[in-house]
Amino acid sequence: MVYQATTSAPVNIACIKYWGKRDTKLILPTNSSLSVTLDQDHLRSTTTSRADPEFSKDRLWLNGNEEEIKPGSRMHTCITEMKTLRKKTVEDNDSSAPKLSTYHVHISSFNNFPTAAGLASSASGFAALVFSLAALYQLPVSLKDLSLIARQGSGSACRSLFGGYVAWEQGSAANGLDSYAVQVAPESHWPEIHALICVVNDAKKGTSSTAGMQRTVETSALLQHRIKEVVPQRMENISKAIHEKDFDSFARITMADSNQFHAVALDTSPPIFYMNDVSRAIIAIVEEYNRVSMAATGHLRAAYTFDAGPNAVIYAPESSIKEIVQLILRFFPQQFKDPFGLFREEDMAGKVP
Ligand code: PMV
Repeated sequence: MVYQATTSAPVNIACIKYWGKRDTKLILPTNSSLSVTLDQDHLRSTTTSRADPEFSKDRLWLNGNEEEIKPGSRMHTCITEMKTLRKKTVEDNDSSAPKLSTYHVHISSFNNFPTAAGLASSASGFAALVFSLAALYQLPVSLKDLSLIARQGSGSACRSLFGGYVAWEQGSAANGLDSYAVQVAPESHWPEIHALICVVNDAKKGTSSTAGMQRTVETSALLQHRIKEVVPQRMENISKAIHEKDFDSFARITMADSNQFHAVALDTSPPIFYMNDVSRAIIAIVEEYNRVSMAATGHLRAAYTFDAGPNAVIYAPESSIKEIVQLILRFFPQQFKDPFGLFREEDMAGKVP
């Protein structure tokens, strides 16, 4: 008998960035973080897991290419943890349950977007992996429990198990059992907020987040200031902003945290540059857009954030999205496509600051 399950998980993009591990094996972070999980329809990983007594080893395919599951690797850890959970929560309690924990698995995962280009593919990838194994094994466990395992694949993956606005509590226990994801608010709480993704470059990034974080933890004094003096207050303030649907505070904190994360990358030795000239120009456009909006209405209308790559994510209320797309396309007519046919010269005539 063959057992199989397919599930999807979306990408999440952090407003308060996770950057730095205090335990590299368990993936325990040096600070808490908070993200927005994007809509399943656009950026997602879809993973199928199959268990079969005939399989001779665990195997994995990413976007159709087989990848080795090295002993001790994160992939290996996640699969092993899921098998252990199957044994503990199902097979040990029900002698008639098939002993799936003893079968090897074949896992196939596809991303519908560029992999490892600063678009959080590891987050959706490991979340989808853990989800599909949980479905395959019919585990009677909570999303919080699964987030403890997804975290060991890729830290940010623990946040992709929940929709909406999600915090990853850093925790303090050495075994990591208090370092998991919690939903701050569901997507339905504040559905007006949209994410616009500007793919500046979809090539694989130069410095992986794992290598970058390690170097930052070892060399950056600014990281220590960020961990102790900055992030705890920001976590509190942004959660409050989300609960109160206060876009001005949400946007200010999101932009400040992206900028501090990139400052910390620059404070690393040797320094790490994730943004490029197009990224910085997008910052200038959003800052100017907000300045004009502030003068006219007293409110901000967009918030940029950049992960470990040059691509921009702009969070904005739905009412601003069309204008922002038009602005970006106006300044970068060659760089970005116009997926929704929103940009028309005649709409823009005379309107660009
Ligand atoms: O989970 P990782 O190892 O891919 O690290 C993610 C790091 C950032 O994307 C830069 C920040 C974050 O919190 O997602």
